[in-house]
Amino acid sequence: MATERLLAIGGEECRVVVGRRALLRLAPLLREAAGAERWAIIADSRVAALHGEAMLARLREGGLAAALFRFPAGEEHKTRESWARLTDELIAAGIGRDAAVLALGGGVTTDLAGFVAATYLRGVPLALVPTSLLAMIDASVGGKCGVDVPAGKNLVGAFHQPRLVLADPEFLRTLSEADLRDGLAEAVKHAAIADAEHFAWLGTQAPRLLAREPDAIDTLLDHSIAIKAETVLADPHERGQRAILNFGHTIGHALERLSGYAVSHGKAVAIGMSVEAALGAAAGVTDPDAPAAIARLLTGLGLPTRLPPGTDAGALLEAAAGDKKRRNGTLRYALLARIGAAAPSADGAWTHAIPEALARRVLAETTFRASPARP
Ligand SMILES: NC(=O)c1ccc[n+]([C@@H]2O[C@H](COP(=O)([O-])OP(=O)(O)OC[C@H]3O[C@@H](n4cnc5c(N)ncnc54)[C@H](O)[C@@H]3O)[C@@H](O)[C@H]2O)c1
Ligand SMILES: [Zn+2]
Repeated sequence: MATERLLAIGGEECRVVVGRRALLRLAPLLREAAGAERWAIIADSRVAALHGEAMLARLREGGLAAALFRFPAGEEHKTRESWARLTDELIAAGIGRDAAVLALGGGVTTDLAGFVAATYLRGVPLALVPTSLLAMIDASVGGKCGVDVPAGKNLVGAFHQPRLVLADPEFLRTLSEADLRDGLAEAVKHAAIADAEHFAWLGTQAPRLLAREPDAIDTLLDHSIAIKAETVLADPHERGQRAILNFGHTIGHALERLSGYAVSHGKAVAIGMSVEAALGAAAGVTDPDAPAAIARLLTGLGLPTRLPPGTDAGALLEAAAGDKKRRNGTLRYALLARIGAAAPSADGAWTHAIPEALARRVLAETTFRASPARP
């Protein structure tokens, strides 16, 4: 059964419908969400090939006019260039102010299509149908959208709340194993910052989650989306507490960027959480038992916990400093207090300055090294 939440975020209402068979209700829900004459469906090449035609047919059968717009799959295409091409195509297709955007895809698509909706004709209504686990539990809730630029990830963007988010686990059937694991990384993040019991549950469910057992996936979606929604509701424009969702992301984003996006977002965040848990422990902010608990859970879910061999700590910190989490020149991190709780800071920012020397030491300790050969 699908569950429903009505989130009032920053004065705007967003209906979040999650669960099996939710897709059957898409057309009527879209009509309620926005009285749009036409829906511009935006999908990446991979999702368009798998689900584009079925989505067009579903909308048309539901009495809605729809057209499909594609961009090449991959984080490296979450760019101003893709935004420019898509907005030009919408103009060429005569999409007007009476239309709305439907993002169909993973987090790259919800971020990029969200930014198109935020800016096209100074903003048109947006609905999201996330198709990756990561987008279902994280990227689709909260209203942040945007693109990556050479200086860093998500540096150009907007807040644009979707009117509707509809997450049906049916889509996960076609998701690759690697992309499923990426989503599990953000689920670990949610549990680590907010819910120790859910963290423990995740530890017992790895085989079921990796096998996509519907009951386990339902519980995961429900808990993770609840945590994301509560965190966003408490701080819609990220003035303070919402920063805790960036746990693992200061290092994670830097690693993604440094690798030219060869390391996926989920894997980078998994490594980022391991490193930042160790940083927090070394700085006396995080419970010293937390890093091992995080590493154990991530390993059980088949996710990496160490920086790739040969990672240049200086270059990584440089890449992180180009990221927006830098305040007053010092690199700041969202850290855990312990498993299930983020660490507040005295200034209310929920981020902690870590001296570079300490960061370099921890980065060296958390870089993957082949075990020394036996004598
Ligand atoms: N706005 C936010 O609050 C927020 C939060 C978390 C992450 N993000 C962003 O999300 C992005 C990562 O999301 P992602 O991991 O979903 O990346 P993604 O959108 O690139 O999807 C990963 C891969 O899975 C494919 N895919 C998606 N759904 C599929 C399906 N049902 N079947 C088969 N293949 C499918 C995609 O084509 C892509 O190749 C990053 O850019 C990150 O910055 C944003
Ligand atoms: Zn993330």
